[in-house]
Amino acid sequence: MKVSPSILSADFTRLGDEISSVKSAEYLHFDVMDGDFVPNISVGVPVLQSVRKYTDMILDVHLMISKPLRMIPSFAKAGADIIVFHVEADTAENIFRSLETVRELGKKAGLAIKPKTPASSLEPYIDMLDLALVMTVEPGFGGQSFMDDMMPKLRQVRALIDSRNPRCELEVDGGINPATARICAENGANVFVAGSDIFKAADRAKRIEEIRSCMK
Ligand code: DX5
Ligand code: ZN
Repeated sequence: MKVSPSILSADFTRLGDEISSVKSAEYLHFDVMDGDFVPNISVGVPVLQSVRKYTDMILDVHLMISKPLRMIPSFAKAGADIIVFHVEADTAENIFRSLETVRELGKKAGLAIKPKTPASSLEPYIDMLDLALVMTVEPGFGGQSFMDDMMPKLRQVRALIDSRNPRCELEVDGGINPATARICAENGANVFVAGSDIFKAADRAKRIEEIRSCMK
């Protein structure tokens, strides 16, 4: 079980301290929004460069942007370790090219699906993935409610991973806390993104451990 705190819920005026407060986590989740693929704009390459200089944590970069191919080299150079983008964000041909590009740049590749996108949309790409991300909210904003109706799809993605690419990680993102992490773990997830739940906690290290040990 791995935890990936989302800095979307951090205080950006004190980002270094905020990152230090979650350093016991396995990954650090960096949400990029372009105001086109999702109806919100967050942060991009210059902020990632600063974060990279500040921390050795594994940077799990979630691109909620249209046509990710053009931006992948910049995010790789800025220090992303895992580059995740959306299957809905481009044509099938360009999704293949984007996955190839991430791998050629020596980074781990992840593909995300929005709530209305079926598990089957990952099938053509599953062999190329280091990580699959099942969104448990509509992407665009932190602090939304967990969609428990995503669990049948999560099980389908778990079955696809187990049959075709067992080393692929299965991440969930949106509305995650210790209780919803447990539901996701029971349905096959092993990486938990959590933004508001961790950053609103007084003791963040404790909250991270509660999410990580949700099955105990
Ligand atoms: C939403 C982002 C998430 C967000 C999760 O579009 O992809 O990573 O930060 O926030 P919480 O955990 O508050 O739902
Ligand atoms: Zn995210």
